[in-house]
Amino acid sequence: MRLKDKVAIVTGGGVGIGKAYAHGLAKEGAKVIVADIQDGEAKKVADEIKATGGEAKAVYVDVTSVEKTQAMAQAAITTYGRIDILVNNAGLYSALKKKNFMEIDGEEWDSVMAVNVKGLWHCVKAVYPAMKQQGKGKIINISSGTVLGGSPLFLHYVSSKSAVIGFTRALAREVGGDKICVNSIMPGLTISSANQEGVMTAEQLADRRKRRAIQRDQYPADLVGTVIFLASDDSDFMTGQSIAVDGGMNMH
Ligand SMILES: NC(=O)c1ccc[n+]([C@@H]2O[C@H](COP(=O)([O-])OP(=O)(O)OC[C@H]3O[C@@H](n4cnc5c(N)ncnc54)[C@H](O)[C@@H]3O)[C@@H](O)[C@H]2O)c1
Repeated sequence: MRLKDKVAIVTGGGVGIGKAYAHGLAKEGAKVIVADIQDGEAKKVADEIKATGGEAKAVYVDVTSVEKTQAMAQAAITTYGRIDILVNNAGLYSALKKKNFMEIDGEEWDSVMAVNVKGLWHCVKAVYPAMKQQGKGKIINISSGTVLGGSPLFLHYVSSKSAVIGFTRALAREVGGDKICVNSIMPGLTISSANQEGVMTAEQLADRRKRRAIQRDQYPADLVGTVIFLASDDSDFMTGQSIAVDGGMNMH
């Protein structure tokens, strides 16, 4: 077990890809705070982890709230005594409809930035004091392969996920002295529960398969190994990096 006795927070851990991260980290021995605005779903995931012999606790969080993100970190400390890993996964993705940039209204633009960018900052601020005091930490920010491909009709989303790359690099420089590693993952189009509900058509999925070096669909399980690596001691000298995990669609 590569994460024995580590404590991990996974935001957006109640559904989709975040749920796979929560299960994967728990299987490696981490105690997992499953944090989500959908707290009922987070509770189901925590119960599943506990039913298979792992340790987990569900916590309600709205990452746009300073107060709620502070409470999330406090719940980790109160329950497990430390915070080793933050997976900044919560995002506005499946909730968004693709549309021309002229049709995106200001309110929608602001809410995407509030969750996908500012939310990460709130979570980092909440966990930093514990990681600094412990003298070590792992922060994993979830960006997107759309940044490399410049996916159209998703301008607010792609802009927000591009910001995650800059955020990762600048933060890595600021906290390197505290032995806190900050990296990001750029997942390719992943068949999470979100896509299955019709975000992508069958034709679009077939097109995506063709553009990959490894020509098959991508699933949440394809991302879990990279999260575990970045959460583990194996990546202790790696920081500020953005890793594409997409079957070789983008090579940057
Ligand atoms: N599915 C893909 O193809 C894909 C590709 C690249 C990157 N991503 C990114 O991976 C992450 C997970 O993707 P997914 O497919 O599981 O998406 P999803 O839309 O199914 O899940 C998003 C999660 O974030 C949570 N969330 C949303 N707003 C929140 C808030 N204000 N506070 C707390 N939690 C909130 C949701 O409840 C949900 O658990 C997202 O950041 C997404 O942008 C997904």
